[in-house]
Amino acid sequence: MRLEQIHVWQEEQTGRGPAGEMRLGDVRTLLPGLIERYAGQVQVIYLDPPFRTGQTFVMRVRVGEKEWKNGAGTMAQTIYADDLDHAAYMALMRETLTGAKKLLSETGVIYLHVDYRMHPYLRLLMDEIFGEANFLNEIIWSYQTGGRARRFFSRKHDVILFYRKSRHYYFNLDGVPISRQDVRRNHMKRHVDADGRVYRSIRSGGKLYTYYDDEPAFPGDVWDDVSHLQQKDPQRTGYDTQKPLRLLERIILSSSRPGDIVCDLFAGSGTTLEAAWRAGRRFIGADMNAYSLQTTRRRMNGASVTYTAPECAGRPEAEASVMPGVGFYDVKLEKYEVEPGVCARRFAGLDAVDNWSVGYLRGGVFKSMAADFRLRQKPALAEVLQLPVLEGVPCLRVGDVLGRYFYYALDGAEGD
Ligand SMILES: C[S@@+](CC[C@H](N)C(=O)[O-])C[C@H]1O[C@@H](n2cnc3c(N)ncnc32)[C@H](O)[C@@H]1O
Repeated sequence: MRLEQIHVWQEEQTGRGPAGEMRLGDVRTLLPGLIERYAGQVQVIYLDPPFRTGQTFVMRVRVGEKEWKNGAGTMAQTIYADDLDHAAYMALMRETLTGAKKLLSETGVIYLHVDYRMHPYLRLLMDEIFGEANFLNEIIWSYQTGGRARRFFSRKHDVILFYRKSRHYYFNLDGVPISRQDVRRNHMKRHVDADGRVYRSIRSGGKLYTYYDDEPAFPGDVWDDVSHLQQKDPQRTGYDTQKPLRLLERIILSSSRPGDIVCDLFAGSGTTLEAAWRAGRRFIGADMNAYSLQTTRRRMNGASVTYTAPECAGRPEAEASVMPGVGFYDVKLEKYEVEPGVCARRFAGLDAVDNWSVGYLRGGVFKSMAADFRLRQKPALAEVLQLPVLEGVPCLRVGDVLGRYFYYALDGAEGD
């Protein structure tokens, strides 16, 4: 059966843990709506905006079962050009930070991830918007990845500016213990107490400080124990500029309680959303790139998420069969063909399909009931998805390798 495209403005997926949402669009367009819905409610905002590198970033898309099996994405698709001039960049950041402040609760905090390029300007802008008195830390995230410079010292750190909304902010250092093995204590004297426990001591300012090796240590403002993602890291999604989950875990666990809202307005591959979800926090994500939505969907499969995104342009041809079973339909995606002229590359069989889902359309919202993604552990698409017989217009969504998503009515099935 050939499928008819339908209009959908939102998608809901039900799963485990606290719920959250992701909106696709320019942050400046999305902020008024987010403020209307969440003003004064967000506990943590993490922002990893473009750094003004002048580079163009890509998503290395894996196409079909073969590329998911060998883990190498061969289709490099541009995700964003980090090329704003100074004035345009500062205007974007001023608008974003001003909106972000409105989202924060009185106990809330904000982390702004930058590098050497825009750091001095953004530090002053943060002081202006949040107030100098609300500055908490300039965190140095130091890593070893990337090339080595020969004509100057290698640039091996980013800066994360940490501000509070007010002096009533929440912060829990005990939430982020690190192993004492990760802390260098060579400058301290080593002792063993009467019970055989090893401890170190140091005298400073006339005071003696002691630290037991079997007690947790806590991070300072230089984070050199969180590695950047290696080329072959299983966390890698193919989305350039992706940050490691561990970095976001530290931010979220130190600065929020379970059930709090964590927000990322430059969500990228969805690292913050995944880290928030895993830590039992609610989450809000925004990004203007369609691959951000697609990558986040894959990472958040199993969570309760609402996705709001504009309709995609295009008319790919799709076919499916629907077989009635007891209490559900067996839906089989038979064909998905990218329309001619959209992409130079030809796709065999269902290779252009990255993920698909079946569910019901209710009041313009697609309620996803079953979803299937290509994964490293499962490179092939599922032959069949089961759609329970429920209320609404039965339909199917396809997410393709071009980052697009299309919704279709399933005429062979009837909602209750
Ligand atoms: C450095 S990346 C974020 C990476 C992310 N932290 C991660 O771990 O994957 C910056 C993101 O900002 C998005 N972006 C840039 N300008 C934007 C804008 N005006 N509105 C919304 N998103 C924007 C880009 O699409 C990109 O995904």
